[in-house]
Amino acid sequence: MKTQAFRLLALGDVVGEKSTLFLRRRLPSFRGRVRADLVIANGENSSRRGGIDRESAEMLYQSGVDLITTGNHVFRQREIYDFLDGAGSLLRPCNYPARCPGRGYTVCRIGGYSVLVINVQGTLFMDALLPPFEAVEKILRCEEGKYDFAFCDFHGEATGEKLAFASYFDSRFSAVFGTHTHVPTADVRVLPGGTGYITDLGMCGPIHSVLGMKKEIAVEKFLTHMPTRYEVAEGPVEAQGALFEICPETGRCLSAERVAFGEE
Ligand SMILES: [Fe+2]
Ligand SMILES: [Fe+2]
Repeated sequence: MKTQAFRLLALGDVVGEKSTLFLRRRLPSFRGRVRADLVIANGENSSRRGGIDRESAEMLYQSGVDLITTGNHVFRQREIYDFLDGAGSLLRPCNYPARCPGRGYTVCRIGGYSVLVINVQGTLFMDALLPPFEAVEKILRCEEGKYDFAFCDFHGEATGEKLAFASYFDSRFSAVFGTHTHVPTADVRVLPGGTGYITDLGMCGPIHSVLGMKKEIAVEKFLTHMPTRYEVAEGPVEAQGALFEICPETGRCLSAERVAFGEE
């Protein structure tokens, strides 16, 4: 009997409360429709106050997200620090200094498989964290033999850094997906070594916006260069991400495609 492919649904940065509410309404049926075995969403902007808090993380879990990854906004709300330390299903980039709260990877058991998920952050045009390639190499060596397949959320600004990372680790991950820019890229594919890849998943947020924020405020910022308080935009929300089909026997990605679902 042919073994069924393992299906990962990865969703881009969730922006604000209205997007977590949207996912709670719509993700359960979408998840069922695409028959996802594992759903990973980047929650670094999910709190109504910016960053991520306990409430927004719980909302994502209630929506059917199994694992939350984050990025450079992860430490904005202090109350999440304990939760980061306690919950294996909430990750922060693994290349923050070890003294920071939380952990950068986990091995979870899903449908009879052990799945390694790593969250890492780029260092080009971003904070100078520990070198991401080395940090991930160390984890793969340390966990070798303890997982069936591995996924990585690379939270980064620069397309070249993300692509170089995926090329370097091609064949060692079943999928590498980029987050952070909030803009989906059109390069979803399976790399020659068998790693499913997309430079950026996009976001789950209001579409008539600048990266999920009110357009007027963003425009004003660029016109004046004065300090600004961004606000989450009104209007319809779209969830953007990618679906990866993995061969459980080889860990190779069989297919990779962009997905999106939204409000009218
Ligand atoms: Fe973000
Ligand atoms: Fe980010």
